[in-house]
Amino acid sequence: MLVRAGIMDLTQFVERLEALAVQAESAFVAASTSDAYEAARVEFAGARSGQIKTLQKDMGQLDAADRPAGGKKLNEAKARIQAAMDAAAERLTNGSGGSPGKVARQSANGLDPTLPGLSRHLGTVHPITQTIEHLKEIMGRLGFSPVEGPEVEDTWHNFIALNIPEDHPARDPLDNFYLAVAGASSIDASAENARLLRSQTSTVQIRVMENTQPPVRVISLGRVYRPDEADRTHFPMFHQMEGLWVDRGVTMAHLKSVLRMFATAYLGEDVTIRFRPSFFPFTEPSVEVDFLWNGNWMEFGGAGMVDPNVLKAVGYDPESVTGFAFGLGVERLCMRRHGVEDIRDLYRNDLRFLHQF
Ligand code: FA5
Repeated sequence: MLVRAGIMDLTQFVERLEALAVQAESAFVAASTSDAYEAARVEFAGARSGQIKTLQKDMGQLDAADRPAGGKKLNEAKARIQAAMDAAAERLTNGSGGSPGKVARQSANGLDPTLPGLSRHLGTVHPITQTIEHLKEIMGRLGFSPVEGPEVEDTWHNFIALNIPEDHPARDPLDNFYLAVAGASSIDASAENARLLRSQTSTVQIRVMENTQPPVRVISLGRVYRPDEADRTHFPMFHQMEGLWVDRGVTMAHLKSVLRMFATAYLGEDVTIRFRPSFFPFTEPSVEVDFLWNGNWMEFGGAGMVDPNVLKAVGYDPESVTGFAFGLGVERLCMRRHGVEDIRDLYRNDLRFLHQF
C-alpha cells in the first residue's frame, strides 16, 4: 500500500477491495458446512473486525477528493460479499450440508426468519351470532327495530296473553322447562306467575305491545328452550327471530311480501318459499313458512295475522289496528345459507367447524 503522509492511493484501495471480494466469494462458495459459513462470515463481514470493516476504516486515508469514488467501490464490494453470503446461506438452508436453521439464524444476526411464526389463535364470532347480526341488518332495512325480552318468562307472556289456553298441549310441563319455586314441593304450571325458560320469542310481542302504542314494527332475536330431542334439525336450545308489525291496515299481503323480501335478501334471489295453512292460537289465519332445500321442503317458521284476542289482551283495539307476526328458526336459516346439514354441528364447539365462518 502506498502511503503518503496518511494518504492512501485510490487505485490501490480499489485493488484491495477487488481482491477481498474475490477471496470472500470463493470462501462462501467453498463453505459446505454451517461452521465454514460462519467462519467466512466473521472473516469477511464480521461487524467488528471483518475485513470489509477494516477497509471501510481505511477509507479515511483516501484523499478527500477520492472518497466518493472509494465509497462507491466499497459499496459494490460489500454487495458482492453479501450476495455470496446469501447464496451460501440459501444453499445450506435448502439441505446440502450443515444445519439450515443455524445458518439462517446466524445470517440474520440472531433472528431466524426461517422458523415458523408464532401464529396467534384468533377467535371468530360464532356463526349464530353472525347470523343474528346479519338478520338484524336485513330486517333493519325493511324498517324493523330490534327489541329484547327475558329468557325466564311467566306463563302470562309465554301462553295466556298469546291465547294459549290452560289445557293446550303446548303448556304441558313435559314440553317445557318450568322452573322450580324455592320451598314448593311441585310446579303449578297453570299459575299465571309460574316461571319457565321461554319456549318461543312470541313472548316479546306481548311485552312490546303492553308498553307501546301502535304502530309497532319490531323484531326480537334470542334463545328459546324446549325439551326436544336433538336430531339433524332440532336442538333443545335454539334461537328464533320474531317479527311483529301492528298498524292500521296491515294485511296478510304485507306479511307475505316482507317474508319474501327477507328470504331473497338472506338466501338469494333463487330461494323458493311456500306458505302452508296452519294453526297457532295467537294468529288467525296462520301459516307455516317453508323453503326448498336440496329438493325438499323444510319448515323455517310460523306466521300469521295477530289474533284479535291477543290485541285485546294487551289493550289494543282490534277494530282500529291489525298486525302480522312471524317466528323463524335462526339455526335453520343459518344452516340453509351455509349448507350446514346438521344443527348439532353448531353446538359441538369443534374449532375446525367454527373456524370456517
Ligand atoms: C313458534 O314457535 C311460533 N311462536 C312461531 C310464530 C310466531 C307463529 C308468530 C305465528 C306468529 P314453531 O313451534 O313452529 O312456532 O317454531 C318456529 C320455528 O322454530 C320452526 O319452524 C323451526 O324453524 C324452529 N324450531 C322449532 N323447534 C326447534 C328445535 N327444537 N330446534 C331448532 N329449531 C326449532
